[in-house]
Amino acid sequence: MARGWALVTGASAGIGAEVALRLARRGHPLVVVARRGDRLAALAAQARREHGVEVRGVAADLSREEGRAAVRGVLDQLHAPIDVAVLNAGIGTQGPVAELPRDQEIRTVRLNCVAVVDLASHVLPGMVANGRGDLVIMSSAAGTQAIPFMATYAASKAFEMRFVRGLDEELRGTGVRAFAICPGPVRTAFHRLGWGKDLPRLMPTESAGSVAARIVRVLERPRRNPVVASGPLAAITMPLTALLGEAISAWGAGLYHRPRHRPVRPGSPQGTHHRP
Ligand SMILES: NC(=O)c1ccc[n+]([C@@H]2O[C@H](COP(=O)([O-])OP(=O)(O)OC[C@H]3O[C@@H](n4cnc5c(N)ncnc54)[C@H](OP(=O)(O)O)[C@@H]3O)[C@@H](O)[C@H]2O)c1
Repeated sequence: MARGWALVTGASAGIGAEVALRLARRGHPLVVVARRGDRLAALAAQARREHGVEVRGVAADLSREEGRAAVRGVLDQLHAPIDVAVLNAGIGTQGPVAELPRDQEIRTVRLNCVAVVDLASHVLPGMVANGRGDLVIMSSAAGTQAIPFMATYAASKAFEMRFVRGLDEELRGTGVRAFAICPGPVRTAFHRLGWGKDLPRLMPTESAGSVAARIVRVLERPRRNPVVASGPLAAITMPLTALLGEAISAWGAGLYHRPRHRPVRPGSPQGTHHRP
């Protein structure tokens, strides 16, 4: 069956790369976005070779207006509505906000919130006019609660989750669906750039491929809860934090995330999840 165009942001690595390949296997031509053009080119070659779909790669920094304008321009040139948009690109920092570089906190909000609203606003009118489409926003189980020492990241993921809840109601009856996917810890580079340690050995995690497979299953089923937990830890922690309430869950998260040493200094890339 011929499928419409799919947009995947953050497709050069991790969850986004896995999602892009699964959507290619489903038959969607792709627009893939990230900053690392070489990785996008490799992904595009693989998708064309293995699944025979057309792929357009856009090397763009979505935390900047120029980058988002470049993506909007490529989408406009398709002259076709987007069938599936997976807004997945995201970053996070770890450490006390008082000590983290201010520009990195602002960049987190620009990428995780501003770019999501920008691209969602760009693709939704075409989807609504077409009477079909799926908007998938990569939130996180971290979005269900305040997380000290990941305060900006958790707040940005909560923004995405609330944005989707609102969209879900707005889009009722249009044939367009919106989803917030909320994984717990996923084994990607996101963690290797953290405090210099990887995820605790006993913590239940999932692979990027498993999150991507979850997304495809969501797309293939009829309308359901727009907020989708992914993975074993999210399935437990999301209802638990709702039960405990904001104050207690924030206190508990603070105990867990409080740095045991203090590697973060203003201007230092140490102790953050950011790429330069
Ligand atoms: N890993 C986890 O435990 C976990 C859990 C819950 C939710 N999530 C969410 O899942 C999403 C993907 O994370 P991941 O684990 O797959 O991390 P990842 O492996 O680090 O991938 C992040 C992707 O985002 C892209 N990206 C980063 N900054 C960008 C920018 N300024 N402009 C455009 N693209 C940018 C990266 O590509 P370039 O570097 O080439 O730009 C990369 O493709 C994020 O939204 C994250 O919050 C992750």
